[in-house]
Amino acid sequence: MERYPAEPAYLLAALEDVQAEEGWVSESLARDLAHAFGAAPAVLASLLEMQGVFRTSPPAVRRIAVCTGPVCRQHGVEKLLEGLRQAATGSEIRVEPVHCQGGCDYPPVAVYDGIRMTDATVERVWQAVESADAAHSERES
Ligand code: FES
Repeated sequence: MERYPAEPAYLLAALEDVQAEEGWVSESLARDLAHAFGAAPAVLASLLEMQGVFRTSPPAVRRIAVCTGPVCRQHGVEKLLEGLRQAATGSEIRVEPVHCQGGCDYPPVAVYDGIRMTDATVERVWQAVESADAAHSERES
């Protein structure tokens, strides 16, 4: 907020910064910003209603769980984690290390959307993510 003068004209820029950094703008934070910038509630409401600009609820958490158990650690899980984190950059998918997933015979192991993948590679996991997401989209349409 210190980036901008505390004037109503800068509220939009501050909201855009929050959206870029957090992926969404909570209504309470938006109200606080509007107050700090001296913007009327009607101005804030019109900014938040701009089509497709601001998300006022957090995005659904989608997560790729990557086993960092002892067997997977001996079979390239660090490379897998790094590759998946790079692949997920800019998306709403989080890549998180987890304990042993019971697939120690075929490491490394990753889990997405309830699907456990053994002998996991970045390409295979990401393909599974895209397939699962496409299936979800079809069901919702
Ligand atoms: S250590 Fe990774 S599945 Fe067991």
